Formats: sequence, structure tokens, C-alpha cells
Amino acid sequence: MKKRKMYVDGKWIDSKSGEAITVFNPANYEPIAQVPRGNSEDVNDAVEAARRTFESQQWRNVKPHERGYILLEMAKRIRECKDELARLETLDVGKPLSQSYADVEAAARYFEFYGGVADKIMGETIPVEPGILDYTIREPLGVTAHIIPWNYPIQISSRSAAAAIAAGNAVVMKPAEDAPLTTLKLAEFFDELNLPNGIFNVVTGFGHEAGAALALHPDIDHVTFTGSVETGISVMQAAAKNVVPVTLELGGKSPNIVFSDCDKEKALHWIVKSIIQNAGQTCSAGSRLIIEKSIKDSFVEALVERFKNMTIGPGIEDVDIGPIISKKQFDIIQNFLSIAEREGKILVGGRRVMIPGNEKGYYVQPTIVDEVDANSPLAQEEIFGPVLTVLTFESEEEAIQMANGTKFGLVTGIWTSDVKRAHRVAERVQSGQVFINNYGAGGGIQMPFGGYKRSGFGREKGLEALRNYTQLKNIALKYSD
Ligand code: NAI
Ligand code: MG
Repeated sequence: MKKRKMYVDGKWIDSKSGEAITVFNPANYEPIAQVPRGNSEDVNDAVEAARRTFESQQWRNVKPHERGYILLEMAKRIRECKDELARLETLDVGKPLSQSYADVEAAARYFEFYGGVADKIMGETIPVEPGILDYTIREPLGVTAHIIPWNYPIQISSRSAAAAIAAGNAVVMKPAEDAPLTTLKLAEFFDELNLPNGIFNVVTGFGHEAGAALALHPDIDHVTFTGSVETGISVMQAAAKNVVPVTLELGGKSPNIVFSDCDKEKALHWIVKSIIQNAGQTCSAGSRLIIEKSIKDSFVEALVERFKNMTIGPGIEDVDIGPIISKKQFDIIQNFLSIAEREGKILVGGRRVMIPGNEKGYYVQPTIVDEVDANSPLAQEEIFGPVLTVLTFESEEEAIQMANGTKFGLVTGIWTSDVKRAHRVAERVQSGQVFINNYGAGGGIQMPFGGYKRSGFGREKGLEALRNYTQLKNIALKYSD
């Protein structure tokens, strides 16, 4: 088992307390590493280092395109090490290897995208009156805090670090205690490159210790958080004490709305993928199927067939469905499965699977639950497991109401060959992203991503994310009387 260090001010260090956290391989629950158990003291050091470097001439003299080069180098390093990174992500998170490869490639793409953007963060000139030159500049905020979840660590660390550094900020990152390893790997790459010490810091630790201390730190200028609604609220409350803005991405209960005139093969393919990807532990998982009554039976029957044929096992064997990350997450899923037994009709799945040789891992069969009341927790709450809930509609209006009938609003899939209907429905669904006849669109590096309602606010990905990491200054210059 490897004992790892965390990365603060360009140095690899243990926690001040000397304590460590054990990291497990979800496939068999064997310990794979130890990482420092950082606490508020370590967070102080990281924020202080970030602040110092951010204010330094050394960082201010880095030209925007030079910041971009560093990020482009990161993309290159990530691709060079893609085998190692994908295996590490699978070891740490449990996800099937090909999904880890896709995540690693997405991480590289984020660095590439924001590397290209670094010298194109522009302001405007605004006509006011003769004799006044009015213009805006987009400045970095300063020290940005990034609290990362365990489900897509390399992607989520990369997308927010790349955007923040492109804009000229200094980053303090707190990966999830369940899966911190690839974020530390990013620190190794930054360490090899020409990035000044203190611009990228990683403090490992528990959420209630290092995470809470970071969100509450008076000298940070922004918090990016992805995770549960509950923790998102406490992060926002902590940041509010210091009037620090937050970007919250808090998951969802995203629907796929399937009309009878859709291309059924395509819809089936993407609906399966959208719920089983990473064993359903995905913020944008397509966890509700909202289907037109006339095709329901045949469509759901085809889905059941596909679910029955899914392979389940350790992610390293590149099965369809890997293990659940932790006992805590398994218990959450298990609780929903018991509700499904009582309140719904389980068409397929519903149970834990024991994988010979990996009995300590938590594996869950891909599950479809039918005959669910729209108000049931099964249709309302994020399960974060491979569990698809079926709801049936007869009219377009009913479909829209159902789609909008949760507290979340992250993603909606619409499946129809009627282009007018597609637009009508897309306009009315309450979610930050809508996919028509697809779901996910190639990773969506360039597409603004974020929630309506309790799925959060602020947008990550694409150019839009730069708003999180910059503040706008308006300058009015009077040059004649
Ligand atoms: P969580 O929201 O508690 O953890 C996410 C991150 O926040 C981790 O880095 C954690 O260490 C940190 N954290 C925890 N408590 C904190 C605090 N008080 N202050 C600052 N940071 C803190 O999520 P958890 O417990 O891992 O999973 C619970 C549920 O959250 C899941 O079942 C799922 O429904 C949802 N979730 C959603 C995600 C998404 O992609 N939107 C990702 C992970 C979890
Ligand atoms: Mg782990």
C-alpha cells in the first residue's frame, strides 16, 4: 500500500497532524493507498501559499498565452500517461476501464480547451458619451477553492482547475476522501511543468475537516463544489460568512422523455448508457424514463433484455457495471431498493451481486422499477446507483409536467422525430442542459453545464465557466472636457 503525500506550495507534504486516511479499491475493498488527513491548519497553509503566489510579480508576469502553454502541456502529459491514469481511476473509483479512459481523455480536452482560451479572455468597449472611453476587463478572482466529488475525480478536477488557471487564479483543491488519487497525479504533472509554486495545491482530507475549513476560509475568493445538495448548502452557508461566491453542481434526477415516434434503437442505446455509466453514480445520470404509453410495453421489454445482459464485476475487467464506491453509497442504494420492493414493481435487477474473489466489493444489479408513483422517493430522489424509474404519459403536456416534477433540473433527454415537438418540449423543461435525440454529446467540454432548481447554479464547462473564475471591472477614462 502506497503512502502518498499532498501537494502544497510546490512541496509534497504530510498533514500537520501526521494522520492519514486509507483509500480503498471499491472492487474488493482492499486498501490501496494512504493520503494525508489534512485539516484546517493544512488548508491555511495552502490558501496562504496560493494567495502569496497569486499576488507575486512572478505570477503576474506570466503572459496569458504562457499560462495557456502550461495547460496545453498538461493535456499532453495526461495523454502520454493515459494508461496509468485510467487504471488508477478505475482502481480508485471502481468504474469500468473504458469509462476511465473516456474520463482521462475528457480531462486532457479540458486542459486543451482552457489552454487555448487563456489569451482570449476579453472585455468590451462600451459607448457612453463623447470624451469617455469606457471598457471592461476580466480579472482573475484570486484564490479559488475546488471541492471535488469521488465519482468523476480526474474530469471534475481538470475542468475546474484548467478554467481557473486559464483565467489567472491560484487553485486550492480538496478531492474526495473516497477517491483522491488522480487529482494528486495532476499535481505531479503540474510539478514537472513551469507552474509557479502555490498556483495549484491539493489538500487531501475529509469533507467535514479539510472541506469545511476550505469553504469557510476567509481568504478564498470563490468555491466550486460538486456533490450532494446537503453538503452544497453547508458550503454555501460557509462561503456566505465571507461573502464569497459559489458555483454549485448538485446532481439530479434527470429524465429521458421518449415519444412513440422516436428512433427506438438509438433511444435504447443512450438510455441504457445514461443510467449504467459509472454504475449510476453520475450527476447527470438519466435516472427517470418518461415514456409514452403506446410504446411503453415493447420499449421497456427491450430495456429489460439489455439490462439482463449487462456484465457486472471489477472495473479493471472492463465490464458494463463496476462496483459501488463505498459501503455508505451502497447503503443509500439498498435503501431505495427496499422502497422499490414495497412501492414499485421491480422488472429486472434489484439485488446485490457477489463476485467470486471480490466478495467485499459492493456490486448492484442494473435495476428497472415500474409502477412508481410520481411522488415516491424513487421518482424524486437521486439514488446514485444503476436504478431506472419508469413513468408513463399519454400527452405531451403530461410528459412536461412529469419531467419538471422534481426539485432537480440538471439534464433532460428528449427522443422524438418531430422537430417542432422537440423544440416545444426543450423550451419548457426546467434543466440546464437538454439533449434531443442524444445524451451527453461527446463529453460536452464546450457546452455550459449546470443546474436549474436544486441541481445548483453557475455553469461549468465551455467559455461560460470563465464567468466563475473572473470578475469584471469597468473602467471609464475621461479624455476630453
Ligand atoms: P458529498 O457532497 O458529501 O461530498 C462531495 C465532496 O464534498 C467531497 O470532497 C467531500 O469530502 C466534501 N465535503 C463533505 N462534507 C463537506 C463539508 N461539510 N464542507 C465542505 N466539503 C465537504 O457527497 P457524498 O457524501 O460523497 O455522497 C452523498 C450523495 O451525494 C450521493 O449519494 C449522491 O446522491 C450525491 N453526490 C452527487 C454528486 C454529483 O456529481 N452531483 C457527486 C457525489 C455525490
Ligand atoms: Mg476509493
